[in-house]
Amino acid sequence: MILITGATGHLGNATIKSLLEKGIPANDIAALARDENKAAELSEKGVQLKIGDYKNYDSLKSALQGVDKLLLVSSSDLDDRLTQHKNVINAAKENGVKHIVYTSIDIKSFEGTAIPYVSQIHIDTANYLKEIGIPYTLLDNTLYADLVPLFSGEKVLETGIFFPAGEGKTPFVARTEMAEAAAVVLTTSGHENQEYAITAETAYSFSEIAEMLSEITGKEVLYHHPDATAYIEQLVKVGVPKENAAFFAGFGEAIKNGEFDTNRSDLAKLLGRKPLELKEFLKTIYGI
Ligand SMILES: NC(=O)c1ccc[n+]([C@@H]2O[C@H](COP(=O)([O-])OP(=O)(O)OC[C@H]3O[C@@H](n4cnc5c(N)ncnc54)[C@H](OP(=O)(O)O)[C@@H]3O)[C@@H](O)[C@H]2O)c1
Repeated sequence: MILITGATGHLGNATIKSLLEKGIPANDIAALARDENKAAELSEKGVQLKIGDYKNYDSLKSALQGVDKLLLVSSSDLDDRLTQHKNVINAAKENGVKHIVYTSIDIKSFEGTAIPYVSQIHIDTANYLKEIGIPYTLLDNTLYADLVPLFSGEKVLETGIFFPAGEGKTPFVARTEMAEAAAVVLTTSGHENQEYAITAETAYSFSEIAEMLSEITGKEVLYHHPDATAYIEQLVKVGVPKENAAFFAGFGEAIKNGEFDTNRSDLAKLLGRKPLELKEFLKTIYGI
């Protein structure tokens, strides 16, 4: 049985969808969720629902019974994520899980990164996985293409992109394709103790994204890239909590510094085709 954590979230849910599309029987798939109601649509499809919380070891110990392969989707709750991830890994060990696939991050260097509060957890979890000795696969995910609209701002077509990412480039990937890559790793052999860069072959800057949006919409979309301080000030002025503004600014800074522009890409090999071009992805959002 394959168990997917974060099954009520975007990536976990899309991975289950991809497993089903690959013909894996629904009753060979288990979904870990904290809230039964949120996972009702998965139960209706015949997926086995397991209730568990990364913060509750006993719940994980019972949820992981009978699991052969596990996709550990990194927690979205930033409060002591290492303990949360260790709880899942320890419960997997106790239940004899044979392979853990973990959603990590693809950045150039963990040292001096502008987003240590996001990236450190991935090194620590990877180290723990290696230490615990269960065969693992690290999926080093770049930034979701799905974040581009969020970073660009709601009024992007009226006022342009406002984001402090300079001319840094990112090999954005659609979240559904990251999920598909995870499903491939979970259903084919030879991925034990491997680390894959889940990145597009081409990286794009927000200047280039503005050009793409102009071409897609027929409206001129400008790219404004203030420094991080001015960006935070502006967001706070329109009511965004300072903490959230600073969190986004950190991503802008990391992009600006080229942290995601790693020149590594294993995605096409895993998918068996070229991933969706960023412009094609943006057409699905901004196209008529
Ligand atoms: N590469 C990127 O661009 C990028 C961007 C954003 C996030 N991420 C990372 O990738 C992960 C997956 O992304 P996503 O888009 O699927 O995020 P998401 O939609 O926010 O999903 C997060 C999932 O984690 C679950 N979760 C949170 N705390 C938990 C806990 N204590 N116990 C059990 N489950 C818990 C959530 O459950 P509930 O539904 O119950 O809340 C949800 O199912 C995120 O959690 C984050 O670590 C990556």
